[in-house]
Amino acid sequence: MNYKDMSEELAFNVLINRIYSKTCLDFSRYKRGYIKRRISGRMRAIGVNSYAQYLRYLEKNPEEYAHIMDSVAINVTEFFRDPGTFFAFRNEVLPEILSRKIGRKSRGEKVCGEAEKWRGNVLGSCDYGARSDCEKHDGDDGMRATGCVGLGVRREALRSGAERSGTERSGTLRIWSAGCASGEEPYTIAIILLEELGDNLGNLLVSILATDIDDDALKKAMQGFYQPFSLKNIPPNILKKYFHSENGGYRIKDVVKRLVRFRKHDLISGEKLQYFDVIFCRNVMIYFSRELQERLFMDFYNSLNDGGFLIIGKTETLTGEAREKFICVNVQERIFRKPPR
Ligand SMILES: C[S@@+](CC[C@H](N)C(=O)[O-])C[C@H]1O[C@@H](n2cnc3c(N)ncnc32)[C@H](O)[C@@H]1O
Repeated sequence: MNYKDMSEELAFNVLINRIYSKTCLDFSRYKRGYIKRRISGRMRAIGVNSYAQYLRYLEKNPEEYAHIMDSVAINVTEFFRDPGTFFAFRNEVLPEILSRKIGRKSRGEKVCGEAEKWRGNVLGSCDYGARSDCEKHDGDDGMRATGCVGLGVRREALRSGAERSGTERSGTLRIWSAGCASGEEPYTIAIILLEELGDNLGNLLVSILATDIDDDALKKAMQGFYQPFSLKNIPPNILKKYFHSENGGYRIKDVVKRLVRFRKHDLISGEKLQYFDVIFCRNVMIYFSRELQERLFMDFYNSLNDGGFLIIGKTETLTGEAREKFICVNVQERIFRKPPR
């Protein structure tokens, strides 16, 4: 094909279509500026300076398609990334779910989501329960904060322990880490569940599904071997309990690994998954167009059991129809709930 007379904009569109036809990755739904920056970075690295030239390069070097994926996917992650979010997961989300699944009463602890106070607290009890200056202890469930426009406060619904969806199974706990990168997020969730429920997992059938589009990231996740920098948030006792030290790094123990199932899945074109109690999709949709974000928020809504929780990244915002559908339960940690039936 002759790309010589094509404008750069047109060549970019052709490139996006070509990538889709060769790899099934649909970058037309990502933020255009973001995809351009990432692909341009790759082009600079191989000494190509126009999209037209890059199209020719791809024709001669089809193995280059694999590098595009590497350049576009940002896999930055770590264990207990944004500790306050996991603190809220353990102290606000889990008690609610466990009360429905196994009739377990909330531990009755007051909770405080201040990230800097998390150390020793995500995995233990909150030392700040008695503090009257803690935002979440003033009886309004942290809903004073703005940002939940149109969602309304349905605290009565949130507190009902008797809700049960027609679709969920009471003896199972299904969690989805969507865009799991190299596995730190789903393994963090598994560690919290083991700490909260003990080795027998409260007799629940626990399944954590972890998905991503990036093969290399998934491979690393399945290996479960990590360098110290991605474990810096983990207290020493937890590190010792759930990891083997090995060749200067750490390997996750089988007791954690067996709770997580990794699978390749594209949030944009993949099959619609269902019946989850909690979905984590953090720091993934920031790269997507607003239109796509709106669609995916509704996909997540439909993937959740009634009363299930959606947890998004701390810099992300719920948009579109989903704003009206979800109840915001922790604005600071971006935790939303599908109303219980
Ligand atoms: C920054 S990482 C987020 C990892 C983890 N959720 C966290 O917050 O630490 C973003 C991940 O989203 C994945 N991703 C990007 N587009 C995706 C898509 N269409 N479907 C599934 N995963 C995608 C990338 O491969 C990458 O691993």
